[in-house]
Amino acid sequence: MIAFETEQTDDLKFVEELCWKLLSYGAGDRRSAMRNVVVGNAVDGKSFMQTVTLRRVEVADRKVFFHTDIRSEKLNAIQQSGHLSWLAHDPTNRSQIRLFGETAIHHRDALCAEHWAKTKHPSRRCYLSPEGPGTRIEGVASSENKYLENFAYTMEESEAGFENFVVVETCVEWMDWYYTHSKGNRRAEFEYENGVLKSMGWRVS
Ligand SMILES: Cc1cc2nc3c(=O)[nH]c(=O)nc-3n(C[C@H](O)[C@H](O)[C@H](O)COP(=O)(O)O)c2cc1C
Repeated sequence: MIAFETEQTDDLKFVEELCWKLLSYGAGDRRSAMRNVVVGNAVDGKSFMQTVTLRRVEVADRKVFFHTDIRSEKLNAIQQSGHLSWLAHDPTNRSQIRLFGETAIHHRDALCAEHWAKTKHPSRRCYLSPEGPGTRIEGVASSENKYLENFAYTMEESEAGFENFVVVETCVEWMDWYYTHSKGNRRAEFEYENGVLKSMGWRVS
């Protein structure tokens, strides 16, 4: 848990760095407020939102990443729109961060393999399921899934899950920080081009 004194700051660069620190803590610390964030996009007039776990933040390139299953519905919407919005909130730091950017899906590539190698035995279970996420089943788990729910697979057997494992990457083009305080809310906007900060400014909150 980290706490920053932000209410007195009029330093936009400090705010920009603070946002990326909060996001980085989210990716690095499972107890952090920004560990779980919401991603969303819209296709054909329908919006899609999901809670996901922030897995990696590359501050230098302004990139954020999460893991999912190649068979999950959200990938259809991401593939169609090519973009994602992200929403993170840290009550301790009174900060909401919203991000938007072009989004790429990594499947069977080097980055995907790097992330897969770091996944732990229990979290590989969902990628081993013979049915994709969201498939309707008779009970809480199909007979094949019951085996998997017992975690009765070796690490070697779990390698098969790599085929279903994807890493979703958003290169941030826009970031909005909203800070709530009884003495006055604050809001700032940051724009990036290919990971480079191009403009920043305060906004009416
Ligand atoms: C705390 C939390 C963390 C989650 N993390 C992920 C995640 O990292 N990746 C993922 O695909 N789904 C994650 N989920 C589940 C998604 O929110 C969503 O329900 C699921 O992926 C199915 O989405 P879809 O069928 O629209 O693709 C998480 C759910 C919760 C409650």
